[in-house]
Amino acid sequence: MPNTNRQWKLAARPKGLITPDVLQLTECPIPVVQQGQALARVKYLSMDPTMRIWMADIPQYMPPVAIGDVMRSFGFAEIIESRHPEFKKGDKVTGLTGLQDYALIGSGETSNFQKLPSIPFLADTSFLGVLGINGLTAYFGLLEIGKPQSGETLVVSAAAGATGSIAGQIGKIHGCRVVGIAGSDEKCKWLKDDLGFDAAINYKHPDWKQQFSAAIPQGIDIDFENVGGEIMQTVMNRMNLGGRVVLCGLISGYTKEDPGMASFAQVLTKRLRVQGFIILDYVSRFMDAGKQLGMWKMMGKLKDRQTIVQGLEKAPDAINMLFTGENMGKLIVEV
Ligand SMILES: NC(=O)c1ccc[n+]([C@@H]2O[C@H](COP(=O)([O-])OP(=O)(O)OC[C@H]3O[C@@H](n4cnc5c(N)ncnc54)[C@H](OP(=O)(O)O)[C@@H]3O)[C@@H](O)[C@H]2O)c1
Repeated sequence: MPNTNRQWKLAARPKGLITPDVLQLTECPIPVVQQGQALARVKYLSMDPTMRIWMADIPQYMPPVAIGDVMRSFGFAEIIESRHPEFKKGDKVTGLTGLQDYALIGSGETSNFQKLPSIPFLADTSFLGVLGINGLTAYFGLLEIGKPQSGETLVVSAAAGATGSIAGQIGKIHGCRVVGIAGSDEKCKWLKDDLGFDAAINYKHPDWKQQFSAAIPQGIDIDFENVGGEIMQTVMNRMNLGGRVVLCGLISGYTKEDPGMASFAQVLTKRLRVQGFIILDYVSRFMDAGKQLGMWKMMGKLKDRQTIVQGLEKAPDAINMLFTGENMGKLIVEV
């Protein structure tokens, strides 16, 4: 076992994409485990668009990461030493590991770790995607806010990503016509051929808006919104009376100084119900939702895929891939 812990620390607030000055790779000794603590070896890091929000000094749902602190991230880890009553050596856990090789569990943000069940047919990485934050976000966002009814039309943006790909499949399970919007023909092919979406539109094609209109002959009842900007405007203008907009994310604005999200006049004239949410609102119900997602996965009703980048040193480049669209499904760094 190496005797140092590599850590990516926030060195400067980003402007736009993450440039080399934003995160700094440092090394420190592996922490000594005190009573009430456990040490975990981080195996996989979850790359999430919200990391870009956490880096910015703007009002948000958690405190921004302070300059000089280890960059916050979700991760999957294995306990290698424990003096903590809830964990023993060999336990697999998820939680806010941070971008580092080792996480000390039992204090501050690292107090909230969850022990994972051992399920033979499941890859460890699924606990960061379909059975992790993304699956839960898709589940609660669509079912609690979107309230899908059989025969309705559901549109999902960033549809080939970790959250969108699951939201669309849950829409299919509930009998919706599901139309995805994604940034490449390859992604659209995956959505239609493998995940069973009824249509998928590549928003980078010049005539994508005409293609999109043709794919929604009955208009749109539910918008599972991950992107914002021009894509959201295009969707909002085609909403049906009484539609629901599940405001999950606005990724097109995260790397811009002024997100400037408009197009809300449709909310008024079409009596739309728009509700933003943060997945942390549903923490007390994660266990039941996880069981349902696991059941769907076991029955073959939910498919997931990962884009895995090798090496902790690649973490900053990996975060940028979320904004350039280079990931398909869940983006993970294998430490
Ligand atoms: N509310 C919550 O609690 C919660 C929880 C988790 C995630 N989210 C939100 O859900 C959304 C998806 O997150 P995720 O973790 O599942 O990431 P993801 O979808 O796996 O990755 C992000 C994807 O967004 C697309 N994208 C990036 N910039 C874009 C732009 N300017 N215009 C259009 N598409 C763009 C890219 O795909 P293309 O190739 O298709 O462009 C990229 O692959 C984000 O907005 C995130 O903030 C919210």
